Amino acid sequence: MMKNIFAKVSRNPVSLAGVVITTISAIIFLTLFAIDLVGFSGGPYVGIMAFFVVPAFFVAGLLLIPFGLWRARRKARLAVEAGEEPPSEEFPIIDLNMVRVRKTVLIIAALTVVNAVIIATATYKGVEVMGSTQFCGTACHSVMAPEFTTYQRSPHSRVKCVECHIGSGASWFVKSKLSGSWQLVSVLFKLYERPIPTPVHNLRPARDTCEQCHWPTKFVGDRLKVITKFDEDEANSEKKTALLLHVGGTQGSTSRGIHWHVDRGVHVTYVSDDKRENIGDVDLTLPDGSHRIYKASTALAKPAKGVRNMDCVDCHNRPSHIYRLPEGEVDAAMQDGRIDRSLPFIHREAVKALKGSYATREEASEKIRQALQGFYTASYPDVAKAKSQAIDAAVVSAQGIYNSNVWPSMKIAWGAYPSFLGHTAATGCFRCHDDEHKTADGRKISQDCTLCHSLLAQDEADPKILKDLAQP
Ligand code: HEC
Ligand code: HEC
Ligand code: HEC
Ligand code: HEC
Ligand code: HEC
Repeated sequence: MMKNIFAKVSRNPVSLAGVVITTISAIIFLTLFAIDLVGFSGGPYVGIMAFFVVPAFFVAGLLLIPFGLWRARRKARLAVEAGEEPPSEEFPIIDLNMVRVRKTVLIIAALTVVNAVIIATATYKGVEVMGSTQFCGTACHSVMAPEFTTYQRSPHSRVKCVECHIGSGASWFVKSKLSGSWQLVSVLFKLYERPIPTPVHNLRPARDTCEQCHWPTKFVGDRLKVITKFDEDEANSEKKTALLLHVGGTQGSTSRGIHWHVDRGVHVTYVSDDKRENIGDVDLTLPDGSHRIYKASTALAKPAKGVRNMDCVDCHNRPSHIYRLPEGEVDAAMQDGRIDRSLPFIHREAVKALKGSYATREEASEKIRQALQGFYTASYPDVAKAKSQAIDAAVVSAQGIYNSNVWPSMKIAWGAYPSFLGHTAATGCFRCHDDEHKTADGRKISQDCTLCHSLLAQDEADPKILKDLAQP
C-alpha cells in the first residue's frame, strides 16, 4: 500500500510538490529551532521566519498532498462520466492481516505524531515570540521605535508589553491577535497614522492589567516630590519646588486623596472628545450608591462615542511611553551631571537647540552640535577652549535627549504625547478640576491649590523646608 500511495503521490505533481515543501520546511524549522535552543537568537525576524512563515509552508505542504490525490481522483471520475477510459486505480483495500500494510499504517501514524509535535511546537514558540518585548518593540521596526525607546527609559522597562497591552485570559489574547493582524497589514502597506494615535481606545481596562502588580487600595499617603529646575540666566541658577502630593488611598473605612477616584465603590465616568483632552459632563457614583452629575460649562464640539469609565490610565496615561519636554530633560541632565552646569547659559542654549525644527534626526544631531559649539566659540571663546570636553559632552547629551523624544519620520514632535499626571505640561487634572464642572446645586470639581498637594516651596534657591528635613 505504501508503494501504492507513493506511486499515486509521485505520479501526481501537486501532491509531490506538497511532499517537497513539507519536507524542506520541516528541515528548516528543526534547524532554526535547534539554533534557538542552543541559545542563539537572531532577533524578531528570525523568530517570525522560524515560527510563522516556515510552519505556514509546512502546513500548506501537508494540505497539498491530499488535495493532489483528491484532484487526481476527481479527474479520473470525470473521465468515466464523460465515457472515457475508466479510472485506472481503485481505492486500496486496507488489509491489516498483511505485515506490509500493518507496517505502513504504523509508519503513517508515527509520521502524524511527529507532524503534530512540529505544529504544536511551532504554535507554542510562535505565541511566545509574539509575546516577547523584542517582537512587539522591534518587529515593526521604525514604527514602534518611539514606543520602544521611551519604554526602555521608563520605570516599567522590565515589564513586558503584553502585560499592559493584553493581560491574562483568552478573550483579550484573541482580541489582541485580531487587531495585531490588522496592524501587521497596516505596517506592510504603510496604512498606519503618524504619529500613532493616542489614546488607545480599545486598550484593556487598566484595572485588569495594572492591578496584576499594583495593589489598588494600598494606602500611599502623602508623597514628597522635589522638582529641580535651572534658570535661563548665565549662571543657570538652580531652583527647587517641593510638593507634598496627597496620593492617599484607602485607610480603614475611609478613602481620600488622589487615588480616591479608583477606590472601591467609587465610579467616575465621563464623555470627552476623541483625544480625551476636553472633558464634558462627569458622572460620579459613590460607595453609598448616591449619584452626582457635574455639567461642563461648555458643550463638547466633537464628542467621542460612548462613555469612558475613569481608571488608572486617565491619569497615568504615560506609565511606560514617557515623552519629556526639552526643559525638563535638560534640567535632569544638568542635575545628574551629564551636562556641566558651570557652562554659561547652557540651559537656555541647550533648550533652544533642542527646540529647533529639523527634518531628520541626522540633521538635528548635526545642527545641535553646531548650535552649541558655535555659541561658545562666538560668545565665550575662553570657555570654548578651556571646557571643550564639557561642551562636547553637553552636545552628546543633547543629541541623546532629542533622539529619545522626537521622531520626525513618525511626525512626533515635542509634546506630541502629553502626560495627564499633573497640570503644568498639559491640562491633565484640570480637564475636570477646572471649577467649571458643576452640579445642579453648585458643587464644583475643585481647583483648590491644596486639594491635591501642599506646595512646601516654589522655585526657591535653597528651600528652608528641605534643609529642615535634612536635619539629623
Ligand atoms: C506599564 C504598562 C505598559 C507597558 C509595559 C507597555 N505599554 Fe504601550 N501603552 C500603555 C498605555 C497605558 C498606553 C495608552 C495610553 C493612552 O491610551 O492614553 C500605551 C500606548 C501604546 C501605543 C500607542 C501610542 C501611545 O504612545 O499612546 C503603542 C504603539 C504601544 N503602547 C506599544 C507598546 C510596546 C511596543 C511596548 C513594549 C515595548 C509597550 N507598549 C509596553 C502601557 C504600557
Ligand atoms: C508586571 C508588573 C507591572 C504591571 C502590569 C504594571 N506595573 Fe507599574 N510598576 C511595576 C514595578 C515593578 C514598578 C517599580 C519600578 C521601579 O521602582 O523601578 C512600577 C512602578 C509604577 C509607578 C511608579 C513610577 C515611578 O515613577 O516611580 C507607577 C505610577 C505605575 N507603576 C503605574 C502603573 C500603571 C498605570 C500600570 C498599568 C497601565 C502599571 N503600572 C502596570 C510593575 C508593574
Ligand atoms: C486621579 C488620578 C490618578 C488615578 C486615577 C490613579 N493614579 Fe496613581 N498616582 C496619581 C498621582 C498624581 C501619583 C503621584 C505621582 C508622583 O509621585 O509623581 C500617583 C502615584 C501612583 C503610584 C506610585 C505610588 C508610590 O508608592 O509612590 C502607583 C504605583 C500608582 N499611582 C498606581 C496607580 C494604579 C494602579 C491606578 C489604577 C488602579 C492609579 N494609580 C490610578 C494619580 C492617579
Ligand atoms: C474625569 C474627571 C477627573 C479627572 C481627570 C481628575 N479628577 Fe479628581 N475628582 C473628580 C471628581 C468628580 C471628584 C469629586 C469632586 C467632589 O468632591 O465633588 C474629584 C476629586 C478629587 C480629589 C478629592 C478626593 C477626596 O479626598 O475626596 C482629589 C485629591 C483629586 N480629585 C485629585 C485629582 C488629580 C491629582 C487628578 C490628575 C492627576 C485628577 N483628580 C483628575 C474628577 C476628576
Ligand atoms: C486636581 C489636583 C491638583 C490641583 C487642584 C492643583 N494641582 Fe498642582 N499638581 C498636581 C499634580 C498631580 C502635580 C504633578 C506632580 C508630578 O509632577 O508628578 C502638580 C504639580 C504642581 C506644581 C509643580 C509643577 C512643576 O513642574 O514645577 C506646581 C507649582 C503646582 N502644582 C501648583 C499648583 C497651584 C498653584 C494650584 C492651584 C491653582 C494647583 N497646583 C492645583 C495636582 C493638582
